[in-house]
Amino acid sequence: MDVVRIQGGRALHGSITVSGAKNACLPIFAAALLTEETVTIDNVPELSDVHTMGKLLTHLGADVKQLDPHTWQITAKKITHFAPHKLVSQMRASVVLLGPLLGRLRKAVVSQPGGCNFGPRPIDLHIKGFKSMGCTVRMKRGYLHLDGSNMKGAELFLGGRQGSTVTGTANMVMAATLVRGITRIDSSACEPEIEDLCRLLVAMGARIDGIGTHVLTIEGVDRLHGARHRVIPDRIEAGTWIVAAAITRGDITVHGANSKHLSAFLDKLDESGLSVLTEGPETLRINATNLKLRPVDIITLPHPGYPTDLQAQMCALLAVTPGLSIITERIYPNRFMYVSELQRMGADIAIEGPSAIIKGRSRLSGAMVMASDLRASAALILAGLHANDETWVLQKLLVLWDFHSRAHAGQRATLSRW
Ligand code: EPU
Repeated sequence: MDVVRIQGGRALHGSITVSGAKNACLPIFAAALLTEETVTIDNVPELSDVHTMGKLLTHLGADVKQLDPHTWQITAKKITHFAPHKLVSQMRASVVLLGPLLGRLRKAVVSQPGGCNFGPRPIDLHIKGFKSMGCTVRMKRGYLHLDGSNMKGAELFLGGRQGSTVTGTANMVMAATLVRGITRIDSSACEPEIEDLCRLLVAMGARIDGIGTHVLTIEGVDRLHGARHRVIPDRIEAGTWIVAAAITRGDITVHGANSKHLSAFLDKLDESGLSVLTEGPETLRINATNLKLRPVDIITLPHPGYPTDLQAQMCALLAVTPGLSIITERIYPNRFMYVSELQRMGADIAIEGPSAIIKGRSRLSGAMVMASDLRASAALILAGLHANDETWVLQKLLVLWDFHSRAHAGQRATLSRW
């Protein structure tokens, strides 16, 4: 979908079940490469990234089947080690193929993933980790060539300037499951998605200690076997629905949300005056019909801190919360590309270094805006739900150009064509 058109100004009421977590699912698909046996994955979100990962695994030789919209089965009996640019360039998360390929085959040739719409996305920590395990790494014509014939368990430190690395941790854990000896990863990421990956690996026969903490210890085994696994609910999607209820002053029940995965986010909402009720083990109720919000200061941090993937959505909410709020982005200091689009809707936000200074307004107005990444799209849609008139959120420059040129020619733009 390239355009989302929103007639805002209406409160959202109803209930919704969140999908499985995208960022858990992608490394979990890659983990299926670690065994010749079948891995069945339930609660898979229906997303283009998932299909891209399916295509990558098929290219590597795996048999990939979508049994129903949310259940996939992967059997990687015989695989190769080459992931081409054509597929890798479609999705940055393809980097998580490195770990399983090294674990299973001791070699990998994978196109180097580039940056993204919110700045450079280095993989130096992944490379440092693999090198510590005895791997040699070469770059040739945009491809990473990794040779792991001498790999063995090692002590790694994955801390960087912005904390640990989520996909880097996934890569090290997956490789280490099939590497002789004990690997200890200090400063590993402890995001719920990493915990979920580790739970699958344990079900496949891996030996992992410290799951959910910043120190993971993995004892390599000779082989892993098949397993069946249910992906955790998407905490970022759940958080986005919560903001949707708040920004429209609606009343929404969100099913399939784990509040433990959202503590820092829920704590900030509580501070701003919105209480989210837990109505069951995985059910949250947000009644914002009489909500009066207060401004808050937020700093994004690695888990269990406030998640960067809920930064843009919260900025949209704070843009319509009277008073002065500040959001400081510590994971991706440039992840404010969407702010200029919120400004086009009337938001009063200034960027000072890694911080957004937000002077809340009582109302935004609809506009045609351009989304730079997934979470930016969510923030702009949320702002559009709040605005009284119509908002168009466009995904591609090409579409914007097309709209302008046709509008200029006096034609009426239609959505159906896109
Ligand atoms: N970093 C380095 N060197 C590295 C790796 C990372 O300096 O080798 C830096 C990054 O530049 C960033 C920070 O460390 O400043 C954290 O990066 P991380 O590697 O943890 O990010 P990631 O694994 O590439 C995952 C999610 C992102 C999410 C981040 C942070 C997946 C597929 N992606 O990315 O999700 O923002 O962790 O939580 O799991 C999204 O879903 O919209 C999204 C961008």
